[in-house]
Amino acid sequence: MKFRTVSVVLLLIAAIIMAIGCERKVVNESGGELQADASACFSCHSDQDRDLRAAALQWQTSKHASGDNVDRNRHNGYGSCERCHTSEGFLANLEGESASGEYFTPFECFTCHAPHTNTSLEVRVQEAVAIANGATFDKGSANLCASCHQGRRNVDTYVVDDVELSEHWGPHHSNQSDMLIGSNAYEYGLEIDNSAHTNVTTEGCVMCHMSPSGDITLGGHSWNMHDEEKDHYNMTGCNVAACHNEEFEEGFERQADDDYDWDGGDPETVQAEIAGLVDSLEILLEEAGLLHDGHPVADVITSADSAGAVFNWLFVVEDRSEGVHNTEYAVGILQASINYLTTGDPEGMPAGNKQRNFANSR
Ligand code: HEC
Ligand code: HEC
Ligand code: HEC
Ligand code: HEC
Ligand code: HEC
Repeated sequence: MKFRTVSVVLLLIAAIIMAIGCERKVVNESGGELQADASACFSCHSDQDRDLRAAALQWQTSKHASGDNVDRNRHNGYGSCERCHTSEGFLANLEGESASGEYFTPFECFTCHAPHTNTSLEVRVQEAVAIANGATFDKGSANLCASCHQGRRNVDTYVVDDVELSEHWGPHHSNQSDMLIGSNAYEYGLEIDNSAHTNVTTEGCVMCHMSPSGDITLGGHSWNMHDEEKDHYNMTGCNVAACHNEEFEEGFERQADDDYDWDGGDPETVQAEIAGLVDSLEILLEEAGLLHDGHPVADVITSADSAGAVFNWLFVVEDRSEGVHNTEYAVGILQASINYLTTGDPEGMPAGNKQRNFANSR
């Protein structure tokens, strides 16, 4: 090719890029244009870059994409729900407002990212987040997760003497952040320990749930730790040298360091021991007329210490990791609740004599 031809072709390409840049004006959230120069788009939308495609594919396998809770908002008389269940509600709440408009849409990329405003994929929430009792959650990009995945109640003002229960009484289905930092359960005035996860997961939820698994249905933007259909687990975030160093093979099986649920014998896995405690406490709560079929019994008026046991049972069940997020805290609040219900003292069982037989009633 002659030099002149080359220059003409180059000019033509430049002209096309400029024309596309002008036509495809992407207006950002402050009403301005992103960039006049189309090449600015290529840092994310290039012919080679597969990150957006991969994220979009994983996204489709996520629970977030389901939109399952998008109608649980003011159309059902609950104005306070949309800030965590819908895109509009979440974005308005970040501005300290409530959502306006007739429709609520499920989450999508722009719920968490504002790439055309920020020219980066940085997530919308960077600052530390306060959970309902005022405790601070500060774990990098997981602060975004904590904005929604936190309990809806402040245990200090919610679990009080003469409290009246209802079927929906409790911390709410979303208390994973509280569990991870070990706060906002009913602690009976005790010092409850935390597991290593509380401190070592500096990027919180993201380190485990978004670790790149190589599998479209696990990790990344699927947020899944377990693909039940394939029976695959995402252990990439766990099996790193500083943490579990290839300890996990298939599943999150890790032997507990103690017989937490006092059912005798060698310690089982952490999750099995927690399940044992959850079962035992459930039986005690049912016997006390405080819980039925997994729900608090409506209209019961009770003491803070008894209601606290209900709250703690829900706190562990709703967290749904069966102790993975914070084993020590889960064990601590469950044991204190069981001790209280059986002896009237949250520390009621003398150390070394913890053996109890719940196995028969289970
Ligand atoms: C910082 C990364 C980034 C940059 C820079 C960027 N985008 Fe995007 N863009 C995204 C993401 C993320 C999405 C949503 C995922 C998708 O649709 O691929 C998106 C989606 C889009 C969409 C689809 C809109 C929709 O509603 O689904 C268009 C059109 C678009 N971008 C155009 C542009 C143009 C034009 C530029 C340059 C002026 C640009 N983008 C720059 C990240 C970026
Ligand atoms: C602080 C944020 C937040 C608020 C406020 C909130 N939710 Fe939720 N809700 C969540 C999250 C996060 C989940 C998903 C939890 C999960 O899947 O682990 C959820 C899930 C649910 C579920 C589904 C439970 C299931 O097992 O599928 C119901 C029902 C629900 N919320 C009802 C409500 C109602 C009703 C309100 C308003 C009165 C409300 N929520 C307010 C964060 C919130
Ligand atoms: C629920 C919030 C949320 C939604 C919705 C979301 N992202 Fe992300 N995304 C994140 C977080 C958090 C990170 C940062 C991960 C990190 O810091 O390691 C991220 C990172 C990314 C990255 C950087 C590379 C990577 O894969 O980690 C890309 C690309 C991306 N997101 C694209 C998308 C696209 C495309 C969509 C829509 C299909 C989307 N995101 C929806 C939370 C979200
Ligand atoms: C805007 C609020 C919001 C944000 C931000 C958010 N979530 Fe969610 N998350 C939800 C809701 C609500 C659900 C339940 C599904 C639904 O209704 O879309 C959910 C579901 C999930 C689930 C699936 C639970 C199941 O039932 O299988 C996981 C895991 C999860 N979120 C983790 C995260 C992580 C990790 C982050 C941070 C990167 C995050 N979420 C950010 C609101 C949010
Ligand atoms: C140390 C790793 C780790 C961290 C940090 C972590 N998770 Fe998890 N999470 C897990 C594991 C492992 C499970 C699944 C246990 C299982 O499937 O048996 C789980 C389960 C869950 C579930 C239930 C999912 C389901 O399918 O039932 C939700 C929702 C969830 N985590 C959200 C979060 C949020 C939000 C955060 C941050 C506040 C977080 N997790 C932090 C490892 C982690």
